[in-house]
Amino acid sequence: MMNAPTHSIAILALLCSASAVAQKASSPEAKAAATEARMTDDERVILTNGILALPLIPGLKLPDDAVAGSGYVPGILRLGVPSLKETDASLGVSSVFGLRKDDGATALPAGTAIGSTWNPALARIGGEMIGAEARAKGFNVMLAGGVNIMRDPRNGRTFEYISEDPLLSGIIAGEAVAGVQSNHIISTVKHFAFNGQETQRSYVNALISEENARESDLLAFQIAIERGKPGSVMCAYNRVNGPYTCDSDWLLNKVLKRDWGYKGFVMSDWGSVPGLQAATNGLDQQSAAMLDKANYFGAPLAQAAAKDPAMAARLKDMNRRILYAIYANGLDTHPPVKAARDKARGLAVAEAIAKEGIVLLRNERNILPLAATARSIVVIGGYADTGVLSGGGSSQVQGEGGPVAAIPVGGDGPMAFLSQEQYHRSNPLTAIKVQAKGAKVSFVRGNSLGEAVDAARKAEVVIVFATEWRSEGTDSIDLALPNGQDQLIAAVAEANPNTIVVLETGGPVLMPWLGKTAAVLEAWYPGARGGEAIASILFGQTNPSGRLPMTFPASLDDLPRRWIEGERTNSLAPGGEPPAQEVHADYNVDGSDVGYRWHARTGKPALFAFGYGLTYTSFAYDGLRVTGGRQISASFTVRNTGERDGADVPQLYLVSAAGRRLQRLAGFEKVMLKPGEARRVSVTVDPRILAEWESARNGWRIEAGTYEFALGRSASDLKERIAVRLQSKLLKP
Ligand code: BGC
Repeated sequence: MMNAPTHSIAILALLCSASAVAQKASSPEAKAAATEARMTDDERVILTNGILALPLIPGLKLPDDAVAGSGYVPGILRLGVPSLKETDASLGVSSVFGLRKDDGATALPAGTAIGSTWNPALARIGGEMIGAEARAKGFNVMLAGGVNIMRDPRNGRTFEYISEDPLLSGIIAGEAVAGVQSNHIISTVKHFAFNGQETQRSYVNALISEENARESDLLAFQIAIERGKPGSVMCAYNRVNGPYTCDSDWLLNKVLKRDWGYKGFVMSDWGSVPGLQAATNGLDQQSAAMLDKANYFGAPLAQAAAKDPAMAARLKDMNRRILYAIYANGLDTHPPVKAARDKARGLAVAEAIAKEGIVLLRNERNILPLAATARSIVVIGGYADTGVLSGGGSSQVQGEGGPVAAIPVGGDGPMAFLSQEQYHRSNPLTAIKVQAKGAKVSFVRGNSLGEAVDAARKAEVVIVFATEWRSEGTDSIDLALPNGQDQLIAAVAEANPNTIVVLETGGPVLMPWLGKTAAVLEAWYPGARGGEAIASILFGQTNPSGRLPMTFPASLDDLPRRWIEGERTNSLAPGGEPPAQEVHADYNVDGSDVGYRWHARTGKPALFAFGYGLTYTSFAYDGLRVTGGRQISASFTVRNTGERDGADVPQLYLVSAAGRRLQRLAGFEKVMLKPGEARRVSVTVDPRILAEWESARNGWRIEAGTYEFALGRSASDLKERIAVRLQSKLLKP
């Protein structure tokens, strides 16, 4: 017989192990396996294919519980599996084609603005806010998490993504995804992977070696997935090294599921499934199946599974993965409830991101912040008397009451009427008038050069707004500002040296007029409170702290690819059929040296470097130390040496690795400091940044040798340096 204490210990042990078993049984994996085991064969192809949830197709009646949005996947009532109600996207709840009449949503600033904050906590808050709005509108899947790194500054979707760097993109997108999913909804990360251009996006074949792939675009996805734990990964339209990404055994089965141990499901992009074999190659769900040639993941998949045990096993796995994402995020236990969204909260979050995301690129003679003594200000162009620009395509968000202006961009296809430059209801001119109390503020449209120059001559200060609209489905041809705006700025700046340029662009632009201007602000697409945020920075209520998340090149000739593939040589055959010649985007030219790394490799100076941005105060760094061992971390002191509160973004770069010169962002921190205040900051270096991918050993190899780091204000403004010796090491994929 046991004595009393031993007895109670034994009971405790028993209870503990019983609770471990109970916990295991209720883990998302266990629940998914249990539900899948109860499915009939017919039920096994319910979650695997969805429909477009838009009442656009004649005769299509949406299911009663569907919400008009991007997509819908029916649930299985008998098993308590909820239907999936999908909405775009990373910048807020989109209003696809403006068809959901009920409501507006808060438009966040562009992804590039979120990237420019270099503030992961703020990205998370943004994700939480848009996820809460999605939930309040009845959605439980958000097609958010755009994380493709900017391989080409002309990419039409640059504004939806974060940056050109895998670490910055992965961290910011991962936090945004975690924020979205904190609302008991599933988020994606997308578009997996190498969706680097919109030109012929459904046909272009991205060529990239495994080493280059792992160290660049894939690393961004890997970090975002680790941080954000998205329930789903959306594959892309393009091919990679031959197969379509949604049909790529290497990308989906090997990299994502085996090497990274990803437990969620892969959904296709809308109309990107080439055939049933995609299931074998790792695709788990066919989205909006009517956009593909056939509903492959419906009856054909059921028939294949009935005949082929391997396909039957795969089908079970597909279901378990979708169910895992549902249970891990509590879609079954916390269904979305339609409710009023918190509009004030939405606007406050959008404004906070805009204020931290706007980048001050130039400030000659400290013309900014504008003095309260300015007497006359003329605001020119960019519809600044109306609203702020937003990007086009599936991510288009519409605020309360819809856009304040929508300018058709033309075209004659069936969808041409949907292609519009939309402006949000946030009026920069009004916001400037509120701030410029003592000044006479006037506005001219900027469509007449003579009128604009005349007004500029008469005013003390000129603020020119310039816009560049980008959209999914098309790329920028030349990085010039459209509609003669480059000429307008040049002429106005010539007429008045106190010319301040505010850019609302979808990505980098060339600035042939730069030297003539007094100041330049990159405001991106600044979202639902963009006008107020711009004015707040112009007049110094907000001290700018945005830093560029990508290089602004000085010339198209400096890019790794002078032309976007397919842009000049191929046009699609009528009906959107494939072009006559295959289109290859050769990403091995820059390889994993994307953006600033390419500039470091080639020695070409940028117009504005990655990580660059000015402030109204000043900062100094000292005391850089690096500690080695299992985990490399660097510490340094940042001091606000100016006279205003401000936030700095010190950046740690790896500049040489075991004898090889290179440049990689290895860590960063956003630090808010009062005048005179100093803080010791420490950043931990992800070992993958130090490593090279070694395909033969399927892992990351850190070579023994000396590793040199530099602390910088931007990729081209490096201050203190320090070196550390590292042992050789092989890390798992
Ligand atoms: C886009 C996706 C989007 C989907 C649904 C596609 O055209 O590439 O990003 O989520 O449409 O709207």
